[in-house]
Amino acid sequence: MASAQQLKALLKAYAEGDQSHFLAVVEQVAAHEARAGHAKYSQELEQLISLAKRRAQTVGEPKAIPIAQPKGELVGLLSVAYPKQRLSDMILPPALRRRLVRIIQEQRHVGRIRTYGLSPRRKVLFVGPPGTGKTYSAAVLAGELSLPLFVVRLEGMITKFMGETAAKLRLIFDNIASVRGIYLFDEFDSIGSERGLKNDVGEIRRVLNSFLQFIDADDSQSLILAATNHPELLDHALFRRFDDVIEYQLPTQETAKEVLQNRLASVKRMWKGWDKLAQESADMSYADIVRACDDAIKSMVINNKDNLTEADVLESLHERKSISRS
Ligand SMILES: Nc1ncnc2c1ncn2[C@@H]1O[C@H](COP(=O)(O)OP(=O)(O)O)[C@@H](O)[C@H]1O
Ligand SMILES: [Mg+2]
Repeated sequence: MASAQQLKALLKAYAEGDQSHFLAVVEQVAAHEARAGHAKYSQELEQLISLAKRRAQTVGEPKAIPIAQPKGELVGLLSVAYPKQRLSDMILPPALRRRLVRIIQEQRHVGRIRTYGLSPRRKVLFVGPPGTGKTYSAAVLAGELSLPLFVVRLEGMITKFMGETAAKLRLIFDNIASVRGIYLFDEFDSIGSERGLKNDVGEIRRVLNSFLQFIDADDSQSLILAATNHPELLDHALFRRFDDVIEYQLPTQETAKEVLQNRLASVKRMWKGWDKLAQESADMSYADIVRACDDAIKSMVINNKDNLTEADVLESLHERKSISRS
């Protein structure tokens, strides 16, 4: 049987998402049992260890063990999720897709990259208009790398913890260092600029300075992502801190067409070409096109119809456009 010390070590490794340490402790227990003459039990443990290792290898390295919701002082600062989204779920222009693939690949080859004294891209800024897939990309990176996604909402944090935000930021960066994951600082402009918030300017400056210090000092295994709709508001000192800046744009007619085809794939369509619909959607965001498609399908369902016409989809697109503009 595992000793109390070993149980504690197991729990600690589990809480920190440290799979290799977790398995190392189980190996200790197996060795101890073998020495105590419990050959069968020890063998069973060894088999389970190799099964766990094989699974980790096929799924990609290193695999996080799911951890619980943030506790104690981290409550209200971080939310955590275990997204299942994959890169294949996103419709992206090829150049942008390559940028995301490169981040994933560098993480997957981190061991070999480090043997050359290099580091994978870990600190990435996403910039672009609302609804173009910045938050979604963070979920995709987490899904592809089987890592937990921690989301930090700075604006809420600054309002809630006025005067203590820098201290709270330290707690978050402590977590970044101790629990490997994807950390998304969403709506990042709220600290990236002095104009972003109507709150105390001094506070935002302090938070920004602390953020710069923390992100500089960070040499953890986590990925730190920041997303903003307003890159023009960001302080230049910030851009330099990131290993990569990825720009998102509204869909082109070509990508808009793909989003439509993808989202309406399951319905019976009463039209042939996609050009007209693609033209109509070209200046909408990905999010609005997706919502318009979903609106059209739902209205088909509640009207007891089993097909959609081009006019149905056009109507939903127009409606979404007018909502977004109002
Ligand atoms: N490139 C994309 N491919 C497919 N769907 C997308 C894409 N970008 C956005 N979406 C859809 O729009 C929704 C909102 O996107 P989101 O990532 O929240 O936008 P942002 O964070 O840039 O404002 C997503 O949940 C997804 O349904
Ligand atoms: Mg977003």
